[in-house]
Formats: sequence, C-alpha cells, structure tokens
Amino acid sequence: MQEASLLKHLTLAVMRGQIRASQDPHRPSWHLAPCVGLLNDPNGFIYHAGYYHLFYQWNPLDCRHGSKYWGHWRSPDLVHWEHQPVALVPSEEYESHGCYSGSAVIVDDLITLIYTGNVKYPDGSRTAFQCLAQENEQGEFDKLGPVLSLPAGYTGHVRDPKVWQHNGQWYMVLGAQDKQRQGKVLLLRSDNLHEWQNLGEIAGSGLGGLGSFGYMWECPDLFTLGEQDVLMFCPQGIPAEAECYRNTFQAGYLLGKLDYANAVLGHQDFHEMDAGFEFYAPQTTLAADGRRLLFGWMGIPDDDELYHPTVAYGWIHTMTCPRELSLDEGKLIQRPARELTALRGEHQQWQGRAQDAPALPISSAEIIVNISEPFVLELGDALILVWDGERITLSRHNLRTGLQESRYWWGELQQLQLLCDRCSIEIFINHGEAVMTSCYFPTEEPIAIFNGNAELCLRHWLLSSPMLE
Ligand code: FRU
Repeated sequence: MQEASLLKHLTLAVMRGQIRASQDPHRPSWHLAPCVGLLNDPNGFIYHAGYYHLFYQWNPLDCRHGSKYWGHWRSPDLVHWEHQPVALVPSEEYESHGCYSGSAVIVDDLITLIYTGNVKYPDGSRTAFQCLAQENEQGEFDKLGPVLSLPAGYTGHVRDPKVWQHNGQWYMVLGAQDKQRQGKVLLLRSDNLHEWQNLGEIAGSGLGGLGSFGYMWECPDLFTLGEQDVLMFCPQGIPAEAECYRNTFQAGYLLGKLDYANAVLGHQDFHEMDAGFEFYAPQTTLAADGRRLLFGWMGIPDDDELYHPTVAYGWIHTMTCPRELSLDEGKLIQRPARELTALRGEHQQWQGRAQDAPALPISSAEIIVNISEPFVLELGDALILVWDGERITLSRHNLRTGLQESRYWWGELQQLQLLCDRCSIEIFINHGEAVMTSCYFPTEEPIAIFNGNAELCLRHWLLSSPMLE
C-alpha cells in the first residue's frame, strides 16, 4: 500500500483509539506504551546529540501482531519522553508484511536505521531483506532500500540486524533459522553499511556445546561488558523444564569472547535473563558515560496476549524500565537505570516484622526491602511472591485458563527492589543479580502486604508520572 494511505489509516486509528486507551486504569503511569494498538520489540535504541532515541515495533491498527511499523520516542534523560514522527511504515514491496526489528547507528551525525523487511507469500512461505533508512533534517527517515537478501542455506526467517562499529568496520549480527530448522546467529562485516560479507555462524543450536537449542534465534545483540563479550538473543523452541524455560520463548545470553578475525565466538553456558513471566527481545546501547543500557519488551509472543484486559481499551504491551548492565562473577547484572530515581516522590521507611509492616500503595511505586528470612508478599490481588528460604516463587492466575502459574528463582535472598506501574512489576533481586519481570492486572487499587515473621527493613516511594508529549 502507498505510504500516504497507510498513514491515513494510522491517523484514523489514533483518532479513534487514543481517548479509550487513555481511560484504561491499567495504563502505565511512567512506562512506555503505544498510544493505541500493539507494541513489541524495542528497536534502534541509541544515544545521539543529547537524546536517547527508542524506536519500537508497532501495529497501530490492531492489538494483534501484523504488519509492523516503527514508532519513535526520544528523551534527554530516560525519564521524560516525547513522540517523534513515525519512523517507518511498511509501504514497499520489500517490507510488505512489516518493517521488522533492527537497530540504529550514527553516520555523518545522523541516525541510520537497519531493519528487516518482512515479506510473506500466499503459499505461507516468506523472505526477508535487511534494509537501510536514513534520518533527514525533518527528523523523518528516508528509505534506502534492501542491502542484503536471504543468505543461502537459511529459511525466510533471517532478521533483526544489530549493527555496531569495531576497528573502523561495521559488523552485524542476524537472527536466523537454517534449512535444518536450527536457530543460529550470523556475523557479517561491511565497510559502508551497503555491501555485506557473511562471515558465518558464530553461535547456534548444535554449535559451541549447546546441543539442540531451538528452531529459531531472534533479536541478537552483541556487545562488550568489561573484559567479556555478551551475545544476547531469544531462542525459540527450548522445551520447558520444571523450574526454568517456563515461558513460551526465552531471552538469554552467552558470555565469551568474539574473535573478529576468525569470526568465532568462544562462549560459556546459556543463561536466561529474566525469571518472571514477561520479558523478551531486549536491546542495548551505550550511554554517553559508557554505561550499557537495556530496554526489553514486557511481553512474550504467545496465544495469551489477547486475554490481556487492556485489549478492551485498544492497546497492549509496554517496554520494561530502562536498565543498566554490568558483570559480576560471570553473571549479567541488571539494575534500574539510575535516572529513574528522579521519579521518586513521597517516601516512607519502616523496620520490624513482615506481618506488622504497613500496607503499601503500589499503583505507581518503588519498594526496596532488605530481608533474608522467609516471608510472603501479596501484590494487589493479582500476584504473590513467596520466599521460603531457598527459592522465590512468583504466582498468578493465567488470564486464559484461570489456573495458577508460577515462576522461580533459586538463591540466597538479601534484598528486593520492586518497580510497580499499574500493569507491571519488575522485581530486582539482590541488587540486580536476577530479575523477575511480569505483567499483572489487579482488579482494584493495588496494595502490597507482607506476611510472616521475618525481620525486614523497607523503603517505599510513590513514583511520579512524567508527561509523554
Ligand atoms: C521478536 C520478533 C522479531 C521480529 C519482530 C516482529 O518479538 O518476532 O524477531 O523482527 O518481533 O514484530
């Protein structure tokens, strides 16, 4: 369809939908959410000329996945965001079924986007093109078209380019499925972003000691943290085990070292990045001060999405909060970006036994609690966290089946930091050693209630609601 026609329908969807969406009691007060329709992956996350830019997979026309657009926000501080012109609409033949995920780099002081043009055929098959678009003086993006078609040996599932510069050359990782239906990550190199040389598979199912490890790997990101390289990606098709891999799809990482000259990534074991219910397709960028920052999608592509109560209000899904990454003893540590402390308002502090703790309003709030003895924490009427001295169990009722479902974390608990925002809770364990990220949909104004004999020391803040302009 013509770009102008797509934009007219997009405008109509926003005109019709935004009041209803803004009336939703589950609408987040400080997380990024689509004004209408469906949001999924963070894309093109980059810092440039005083602003963080965050693009996102967006279906403005529906709460189902479909032909994706790229929405665009920017922020000077990771807290106050403003809408920017819609960056990409799927108007060309080489992206007829969506401008899929990708990344951003800076060329000649302007943002260049690298994304996947997704094309589906009537017989159910598909192909993919990796495409470029370049920022112009109006802050809009001019498409430069495909720079890479399907590499030989792979199905039509080759997507989600993440590009970075190393020693004066451009490198790209791509998520891929080979013809044997094995998930892989490809590494490519270029002098100019236009011509790419495929250096081969650097990780994948059946490679590097991983054994059989999924039929498709999506959304790779490769970056350096301290002395290590981190390959983050989302494998699909890992069977659930009793206490891990419980979500339909995972997001996780491999630590290792990329040998650029030989295109080989020596790596250790796979680790899941999140122990909660909803976390997928994370993407990172470098902050001006050298921190490695991350946004994730607080969703999982699965059958249950349409059961979210927000769908009745014409929108679905949010981003996670921005997080900063570090490494500690071979573990990826995720903490809320320090900028988020700017949201903190009214504060209270309390010490004593869990069962005597005051009930805390958590509609939009942060709690930090130091605790090591067993306790129970009710989060509204929609989530319950139990620490039994050996593991945390986080439980809720499944929106489709009504049955209880749980996620787990094993370890020695010392501290929890909870960021709560109407339809989500992000639980940072032991200063970011692990995170449990989850949607939840309380049916009344949620409060947190502690139970048990444990001695605890807590701080609680109400969080403010910065305007999204
Ligand atoms: C991950 C993903 C990507 C794809 C995009 C489409 O959630 O499936 O692989 O590019 O979403 O919206």
